[in-house]
Amino acid sequence: MSLNQERAHDSANSLPTQVVGLLDATIEQPAAVPQTIAVHPDFQRSGIGTRLLDRAISQLRQRGVASLEAWTRDDQPALGWYASRGFIETYRYLHLYPAGDEINRVAHPTQGHHLVKAFVHAELTAGTGARGQIARQYVCRRFWRAL
Ligand SMILES: CC(C)(COP(=O)(O)OP(=O)(O)OC[C@H]1O[C@@H](n2cnc3c(N)ncnc32)[C@H](O)[C@@H]1OP(=O)(O)O)[C@@H](O)C(=O)NCCC(=O)NCCS
Repeated sequence: MSLNQERAHDSANSLPTQVVGLLDATIEQPAAVPQTIAVHPDFQRSGIGTRLLDRAISQLRQRGVASLEAWTRDDQPALGWYASRGFIETYRYLHLYPAGDEINRVAHPTQGHHLVKAFVHAELTAGTGARGQIARQYVCRRFWRAL
């Protein structure tokens, strides 16, 4: 759903045609998972993200969805937005992108195979040791809210 589409339904008059934000979500009962939430940089902090969220929540409630589960990385503005919209962080884990020799520290290919690229999910527990060994890494967080 984009605000532009919303407007097109709401009015047949000559309103702006630029898409300034979008939100799409997949329903995985009993929750829905937003796949994309984005507002054009020129229009951020003007309530558009909140309107998109409110509209999505209304539609999802009608479909019997009980909660939202959103996944995002370390981007501080996004974290601030989720927190301010009533989401709570319920889980976090690591996204690791080992490169070159780093690959052998986290993956062990079977004989005869050679890994050239890897994307690894790892728990954030002290036992994994992965965190200190891979340069490119992100914390991925699950944000949850009831509908
Ligand atoms: C996150 C995003 C969707 C928020 O949409 P938005 O339309 O800019 O946000 P809103 O105007 O609805 O913000 C409502 C409230 O959220 C909080 N908020 C929004 N952006 C924030 C930021 N950059 N830092 C901290 N808090 C923020 C504030 O409390 C804000 O209220 P205020 O402006 O009165 O202080 C938008 O900034 C965006 O597209 N970011 C890039 C893509 C992205 O990170 N998507 C989400 C993760 S996948």
